[in-house]
Order: sequence, then structure tokens, then C-alpha cells
Amino acid sequence: MEKSEFERVIEQLPIGACIINQDMTITFANPTFLGGLTIRQPDLVGQHLLSVFEEQARFLKRKIDSVLILKNPSFSYWQQRPHVFPMRSSRPITGDESQMYQNVQFMPLSNDNAEVTHVSIFVTDVTAEASYFIQQSDLKNVLEEEHQQLKALHQELKVAQKQMLQSEKMASIGQLAAGVAHEINNPIGFVSSNLETLKDYALKLIKTTQTQKKIIVKQAEERFIKLLEDVYERHGVDFIVEDLPELLDESLNGAERVKKIVNSLRDFALNDEEGWAEVDLYAEIESTLVVLKNELNYKVQVEKDLPQEPVFIDGKAGKIRQLLFNVILNSLQAMSSGGTLTIDCKKNGDKITLLIKDTGAGIAESDLERIFDPFFTTKEIGQGTGLGLSEVYTIIEEHEAGIDVLSKEGEGTCFTFVFNTFKAPLN
Ligand SMILES: Nc1ncnc2c1ncn2[C@@H]1O[C@H](COP(=O)(O)OP(=O)(O)OP(=O)(O)O)[C@@H](O)[C@H]1O
Ligand SMILES: [Mg+2]
Repeated sequence: MEKSEFERVIEQLPIGACIINQDMTITFANPTFLGGLTIRQPDLVGQHLLSVFEEQARFLKRKIDSVLILKNPSFSYWQQRPHVFPMRSSRPITGDESQMYQNVQFMPLSNDNAEVTHVSIFVTDVTAEASYFIQQSDLKNVLEEEHQQLKALHQELKVAQKQMLQSEKMASIGQLAAGVAHEINNPIGFVSSNLETLKDYALKLIKTTQTQKKIIVKQAEERFIKLLEDVYERHGVDFIVEDLPELLDESLNGAERVKKIVNSLRDFALNDEEGWAEVDLYAEIESTLVVLKNELNYKVQVEKDLPQEPVFIDGKAGKIRQLLFNVILNSLQAMSSGGTLTIDCKKNGDKITLLIKDTGAGIAESDLERIFDPFFTTKEIGQGTGLGLSEVYTIIEEHEAGIDVLSKEGEGTCFTFVFNTFKAPLN
């Protein structure tokens, strides 16, 4: 019997087609369907679909039942179920993987009375598309992972750059500071010592003129006294006598301030001359508190929680003293209207943790990252140089110690330091 054109098209169709009846008996399968199968089946027609494709029987039954009952087409997409029928692809994904990725359509076939008597099943080979899709999604995962790694690396670099900038800034400012300090040190030294001498001279001269005046007023003729009073008045000597010591005191104070600034500038530059030794931390705390006695007004309470046995830090005593001074002074300045200064110390293996806590003004969040910058200050002009904490930072770096700040505006500030315990050198 000659095949109709229609039948020839069905035979050549690159889509696997098969038809089953209501009992799920296979009534037709085209060559693409048969040829693609990897199981040996000489004749599919007449066999029960679910017994031929046992592995997917449950799935197939569910799909076909739904088509028969609902009379609607149903689909299976390769991403949910890539291999419904055991078939080989003409375009395998890799050498090992030759299974066909397939989209399957289940279509109702109705008779003239609109009753669904058969279901046709179409299997489309989408291995090439699936292969492309899988490759792309693998690639996407790789890229995603690389992207995450790059992001992490970028973050690390940013932190490293910030640290580098900070220490570079410290180093160059340190050099500048040391140079300036060196230049100013000498002149300010003789200015302030000369001022001291001048004050001494001035007081003596004042005393002398006053005595002279007293003698003249007591002993001399009226016209001499008048003459003297004229001279006094013309030159405003009474005012000078009053103002001169004040002027000199102010100048001495100014010179003293300059000296302090020069000293802190000098300390700011690393001083490698001082040797490493065991630094008695409690002794340094005590002497710092003594030095700061003037600042410690009656409104500030000091609470100390220090372990009984002494604690020795591996470091430079002068630097540690400077650190304690700068930090405690800041705390006291932040508590100008009273509060509590707490100093805690704990030993943890070969680490020493020191807490310096105040109930002062606190630090604004936006300022927190700048407090270690040289010259950063929130104090009024003439009150702070802004070098205190940058000096602390340099000292911490030099001592390979740790520093952390917690602060809340209006509540207070807590500085935590972690130092290394002194270990006697091995002989
Ligand atoms: N304990 C603290 N409480 C509140 N603010 C603080 C505290 N410690 C530091 N600060 C803030 O950090 C800034 C910088 O401190 P730093 O010690 O470097 O400089 P300064 O105290 O302003 O000046 P200097 O120490 O040279 O007198 C301060 O101006 C202040 O705003
Ligand atoms: Mg300070």
C-alpha cells in the first residue's frame, strides 16, 4: 500500500511521536521515537506504555490521566524532568553524557463526538539548548564566585590602603613634626628662661621703686614729692607696676604652652633612643594620675580595678607614660562637669588588657574614625593640638599592641589597649 504524503511527513518528523489509547496501549510510534530509544523494543505497537517505560510509569500515568480527564494538553519541561523516555541524543552534551534532554507534550486526540479516545505524545530533543543553558549557568556560577572573591579582595585592599595611608601620614607628619620641634626647641628655651629672669628683675625693680617712693614721700620736701607724683602720673607707673607681672606671667604661660606643643611634637616622632624594658604598668598609671592631679578636680571619681600582683609590659616606659597621659587627660577633659574615670587591668596569658573608661561627653560617630588623625581636635582653638591620640596610635604601632574605642555621645568613652607581657630575654 502506498504511503500517503501525510504518513511520510510523520515518519521524517524530527520529533518522536507516539499514540496510546485509553488503556495506555501503544497504537503508533514514528521512526524518530523508535530510533531514539536506548532500550531494545522490536515492536512497540500493542504494548502497554507503562510496562515498557517502567521507570517513569508513575509520572507518565499522572500526565496521561490528566489529559484524559481534563481534555487539555500537558507538558513536561526538560529542566524539571530531563529524561522522561530513555533516548539517545543525536547531539550529546559531552562524550560521556549521551542521554537526550527532552521536552514532552501530551495532547488529547478526540473522535467526532468530542470524546478523548487517544493521547499523542511528542518528544522534542532539546539537548543542544540544554547543553548551552547548562554551560551558561555553570559559567555564571564560576563568574559569581569569582565576583565574590574579587569583592572580598577589593574590601581587603581598601582596608590595607586605609591602614597604609594612615601609617604613611603618621610617618611623614612625624618627620615634619620632629624637624619643626627641633628648630623651635632652642629659641623657646631661651625665651622662657629669659622671661623668668625678666620677671625676677621686674619684681625687684618694682620693689625698689616702691621703697624709694615711700622714703621720698616720708622724708623729702613737698615740691620733690609733687615732682615724683607728676612723673608717676605722666608715665602711668602705678598701672605699669600692676600690669608688668601679669604681662610677664601671660608670656611665661604662652612660652610654657609652646614648649608643651614642641614636646608632644617631638614625642610624636618615633624616638628610637629609649630602650625596651619591662614597664611597670601600675607605677606608670600612678605617676600619670599624680601628674594630672591639677586636672583631677573633686567632681571626678577615680575607680581602679587592678590585679594584686604587678604587671609588666614589654615596651618603652616614656612612651607608655605618654600614652596613659594623653588618654587619661582626654577623659578628664571630657568630664569637665564631673564623672567617673575607671581604670581596669586584666592579665590574659601573655596579653595585658587595659581599659580606660570615662562617663564624659563621648565622641560623635562621624568623628570616631578621625580621632587618631594628627591635628584632629574638637576642642577650642588654643585648647587642644589634636596630637594626643595620633601620638597614642604611633605608640601602639611601635609596641605591636592593640587599641579599640567604644563611645557614645552623652554617655562616655572606653579605650581598650592590649599590650604584650614582658618576657625576660633568654641568655
Ligand atoms: N575620652 C574622650 N571623650 C570624648 N572625646 C574624646 C576623648 N578622647 C578623645 N576625644 C576626641 O578626640 C579628639 C582628638 O583627641 P586628641 O587627644 O588627639 O586631641 P585633643 O585632645 O583635641 O588635643 P591635645 O591632646 O593635643 O590636647 C578630641 O578633640 C576629642 O574630640
Ligand atoms: Mg588630647
